[in-house]
Amino acid sequence: MRIDVLTLFPEMFTPLVSTSIVGRAVQRGLVDIVRTNYRDYTSDSHRSVDDKPFGGGGGMVLMCEPVFAAVEAVAGDGGPEPLKILLTPQGQRLDQSMVAELAGEPRLLLLCGHYEGFDERIRTELADRQISIGDYVLSGGEPAAMVLIDAIVRLLPGALGDQNAARNDSFADGLLEYPHYTRPREFRGLAVPEVLLSGHHREIETWRRSQALSRTQARRPDLLEQKRDRMSRTITE
Ligand code: ADE
Repeated sequence: MRIDVLTLFPEMFTPLVSTSIVGRAVQRGLVDIVRTNYRDYTSDSHRSVDDKPFGGGGGMVLMCEPVFAAVEAVAGDGGPEPLKILLTPQGQRLDQSMVAELAGEPRLLLLCGHYEGFDERIRTELADRQISIGDYVLSGGEPAAMVLIDAIVRLLPGALGDQNAARNDSFADGLLEYPHYTRPREFRGLAVPEVLLSGHHREIETWRRSQALSRTQARRPDLLEQKRDRMSRTITE
């Protein structure tokens, strides 16, 4: 998979692409993450990327010219046509099913905004999709792009040491994940649940499922509601 990131701050991504699971996936060649600075596609001597909004008001707005030029150069480099995603609090809210869908794409191009936002024509003419990582406002799209990249890359075959790990993740099945324990068996008087030490795989499976369900009911009943809706839609279809 290839992921192009267009940003004014490519250096922000250095720790992400060189550390932990994403770093390892890059090293193994599972994903190619290519960063491009809009500033390299400016045409004036000041290398301007933003300007004051027409109509007044505070903040600066990312200009069409460098963004269109950067996207056209990067997307037209002969590789597969990328799905162009704009990171914005106005976008569709990211969830695990969207992540799984995007992990199946051959190439993504992520557009990070900064300052007050993008010129609206970037939104309407360039973006295939607009994605938000939650109902809060970041100073720029970069942290949102990093969240998206991390969530996608860990789903790529071979990215996680244990291939089952992603299948059991929270949300993978529309539920929060069951609790985990490791050594010691008892810590400050807190014992590991007996069933996990029993070696009975069927019972462990049942216990984990019931823990996932009760935890989801207690903390995120909205997820159970959504799961019920999906199931009833499947039955009636
Ligand atoms: N840019 C600023 N805030 C954002 C958010 N919540 N999600 C995606 N991109 C953003």
